[in-house]
Amino acid sequence: MSYFQSGERIHLVDKKGRQYALTLKAGDLYQLSGHKIAHDDLIGKPDGSLAMLSGNKTMLALRPTFGDYVLKMPRGAQVLYPKDLALIPMWADVYPGARVFEAGTGSGALTMALLRAVGPRGLVVTYEAREDFARTAMTNIERYMGPVPNLIPLRRNAYEGISLLDDGLPFDRLVLDLPEPWQVVPHAAQVLRSGGMYLSFVPTVPQVVQTVEALHRATVFGMVETFETLLRTWSIQGRSVRPDHRMVAHSGFITVARKIESGLWPTIQAGESLGEVADIHDEGEDRGR
Ligand SMILES: C[S@@+](CC[C@H](N)C(=O)[O-])C[C@H]1O[C@@H](n2cnc3c(N)ncnc32)[C@H](O)[C@@H]1O
Repeated sequence: MSYFQSGERIHLVDKKGRQYALTLKAGDLYQLSGHKIAHDDLIGKPDGSLAMLSGNKTMLALRPTFGDYVLKMPRGAQVLYPKDLALIPMWADVYPGARVFEAGTGSGALTMALLRAVGPRGLVVTYEAREDFARTAMTNIERYMGPVPNLIPLRRNAYEGISLLDDGLPFDRLVLDLPEPWQVVPHAAQVLRSGGMYLSFVPTVPQVVQTVEALHRATVFGMVETFETLLRTWSIQGRSVRPDHRMVAHSGFITVARKIESGLWPTIQAGESLGEVADIHDEGEDRGR
């Protein structure tokens, strides 16, 4: 059995499934729309217990799942949604023990997904341009995961270059969630190992096009694919079975590529656009996803 402790972050969930985050502290009082509960009444209770607030308001007290935690944690930058956080480690093929480069850290949501995927034997190096975002991210990460000795957070501009660590070893995987990933592609080509995976996430079509062009221009990337995911939840109540009225219709596009020896596919030259190199368009079609 796992019991709530002072200092940990939990969520209270109401009948409508709405979640409210709080950090437990002995002696404190939690208030929600006039209903109150002493933190001491929650500390020591098992995960998944009912919590009785004043005015007979009943809620569930839960340790948040990773996805729930991310949606409620303090944000500097916009976080990636759970649907993308779930896919990215899979499509970047982030495995236990991998050495991963990430930029930008943002609020730390993707960093945590990567840390979970590499496990204690792996390593994540993450660059963030803004000091305030980097601080928020570290607070979010450590609050959820505790100390993370295998995370190296650096306040750096990824557009200016990526440094290898002192051991000089290349990265196995490179994952980008920043506005201009095409500026990082030439650096990615330098620091990824052969066979390594590149992945970037961008919200708009022009960003995808620039990114894919940069990957082809770099000449050492192949198997370039771009996709997005739509997640539609359903309401199932008695005979009323239908999709929910609301959904997150768009978050962004994921582009993946492998670092390879060039020669199998044509590349695009400086000044050329993808439309001028017809063969590239057929690449990677119908991969049976
Ligand atoms: C959309 S946010 C990343 C959110 C993050 N993936 C998460 O889930 O919490 C983009 C971040 O990239 C950072 N950024 C933008 N340009 C950068 C650069 N050149 N180098 C490093 N970080 C950069 C921004 O400051 C911002 O924090």
